[in-house]
Amino acid sequence: MRVRVFGSDRALARALAAKIAGSLDANPCLVLGLPTGRTPILLYREIVRLHREGRADFSRATTFNLDEFLHLEAHDAHSYRAFMQRHLFDHVNLTARRIQFLNGAARNIARECDRYERAIDRVGGIGLQILGLGTNGHIGFNEPADALIARTHRTRLKPGTRRANAALFDGRLTAVPREALSMGLATILRAKSVVLVATGATKARVVQRMVEGPVTPRLPGSFLQLHRCADIWLDRAAASRLGSSRDGFSRRVS
Ligand code: GLP
Repeated sequence: MRVRVFGSDRALARALAAKIAGSLDANPCLVLGLPTGRTPILLYREIVRLHREGRADFSRATTFNLDEFLHLEAHDAHSYRAFMQRHLFDHVNLTARRIQFLNGAARNIARECDRYERAIDRVGGIGLQILGLGTNGHIGFNEPADALIARTHRTRLKPGTRRANAALFDGRLTAVPREALSMGLATILRAKSVVLVATGATKARVVQRMVEGPVTPRLPGSFLQLHRCADIWLDRAAASRLGSSRDGFSRRVS
């Protein structure tokens, strides 16, 4: 795991947008894994800006989002799909058929999860997976548990996760679905490279446990310690609890 600390969330978003644009330049057929949540909003704004300036071409790229709420139609304004349309897809030149999403309203959920795994395999796997981090350590919707599920699956959301997502439902907690579909831990760890982004003081404690603690299903993000090419990009607030120098970890302040 390589930890990189930025002076601000904006500086981080700019650097990550530039990294994605550079990856697209090097490989126009890049397969990107994408998160939702508050954290990537600045990133998506920066990507849109680069695209408008002619510096990020998505015409041959493919995207796979991490997760979706169960029973929500793609066109439901509260779905993650709708979130992605608003913040990214409506503003860049992705080809519609190369935008891959879990269908939370699918009639046969097991088949839908299987379809997603096969779709990822068919394009040769995810090249660059961007991740956020839940305050309880979840990645995608892989919640802390005694055991984690490897492949794309149906999952029950923790109360805290539902609270964190209530903003998407106009603050109405009761409207937040209790279940979701999510890529599994192996789906995520199969990506060739991963950048996990965490910003703000509310993430400092979980970031410290993820980076410096043991690998445990009680903190799904800790499994990134096992990945060959996982970068943890933080702003100062999220990095504030990390030890300054630890063997095996390189930490760079930008
Ligand atoms: C949601 C998403 C995760 C995301 C997390 C963090 O629950 N399913 O993929 O990483 O929230 O969200 P935020 O960036 O708003 O803190």
